[in-house]
Amino acid sequence: MFTKHYAPEELEKRVIRKSDYTACEEAFVDTCLPGREGKKNYCIIGAGVTESDRQVVNLREPHGFNVGGVSLPTGKINSLHSHLTAEVFLVVRGDWNFFWGHNGDDGEVVLSPGDIISIPAGTFRAFERVGSDDNFMFSFLGEDDPGHVTWSNDVIEQAAEYGIYLSKDGMLIDTSKGQNIAAGIEVLKPLSTEQLLRYNRTSPAEMAARIYNVNRSAGRSEAFADCALAGGAKQYHMIIGEGAHEFGNCRAHILNPHAFSLGAITAEPGNGFLAHSMNVPQVLVVGEGRWRVTMGQESFDIEVEDTVSIPVGMKREIQCIGDQAGILYQAYGGNQRVTLDWSTEVLEALGTAKDTYSPQPICNDNRYSIMAA
Ligand SMILES: [Fe+2]
Repeated sequence: MFTKHYAPEELEKRVIRKSDYTACEEAFVDTCLPGREGKKNYCIIGAGVTESDRQVVNLREPHGFNVGGVSLPTGKINSLHSHLTAEVFLVVRGDWNFFWGHNGDDGEVVLSPGDIISIPAGTFRAFERVGSDDNFMFSFLGEDDPGHVTWSNDVIEQAAEYGIYLSKDGMLIDTSKGQNIAAGIEVLKPLSTEQLLRYNRTSPAEMAARIYNVNRSAGRSEAFADCALAGGAKQYHMIIGEGAHEFGNCRAHILNPHAFSLGAITAEPGNGFLAHSMNVPQVLVVGEGRWRVTMGQESFDIEVEDTVSIPVGMKREIQCIGDQAGILYQAYGGNQRVTLDWSTEVLEALGTAKDTYSPQPICNDNRYSIMAA
């Protein structure tokens, strides 16, 4: 597999630490409304759906999906809105009340640290923080360009009262700050009843089936060839999509296409993934513990809430370090099953050769268990 050469400083830029995340408090039209201000939006990988040209993006390189984050002040709400793609939240700190539906009353659920929720495209959703001031969630949006946010009518109507509009490509125009609606620019209007009725309704049972928590679920100890080797012991969780797996009767918790897969491993110190590469972009997010990621010849130690983007084709080793077990989330670009290309040393330890090694295909029936998003 051809791999571009990366200088150490180029790799260092792909190790995006929690302290590198940069908040934008005016990323969305609703932050100008009373009771909605102060929302912090982060764009870690890709620009996501930010509506502000002042948003800092840590890494713009296309991955097939976007990774961002959000935190909210006490008593504030992230307004009802919908996306054209799947949106997945990984709760890291704080408790959050999610509610959804055209009027936000189709269902609600309180999520806590470790919970992951995949909200179908075309479903109006909102969330508010409950409890602790200390709060943060990662958010994942499918595709390189997830398009623009569709806000509920009350947001568009209230914003207009303040002189704030959104262009059809989803950028803010704040006439109260002297910006003008340029000739030829159309601004978004409230949805008609007919348009609104085209949006999804998602029952509480359907939404409940789209929630996962590694700490409440059994992982699989035999998902990869290296699990049997020294340093490769781990439990693998297939959370969304085909992802990467090699052995065992693996089936993800959520199988409808998201344009990316999401998995997680738990491992004791000294264990993780032995050396391999893959032909899709991979992003790591630390859930618990400390981890060492080696890309080529360079090693980086990462901690809770840090993010790493590993280039396509790069040889990598991933190891839990420190003195406590860890959780590491992995996102992979694309809907396809990901094939691991084990290093020669791993194949030798397995007693096989590269040209004869063949992982067992198990999950190839595409029985999507949840409505398409
Ligand atoms: Fe959203």
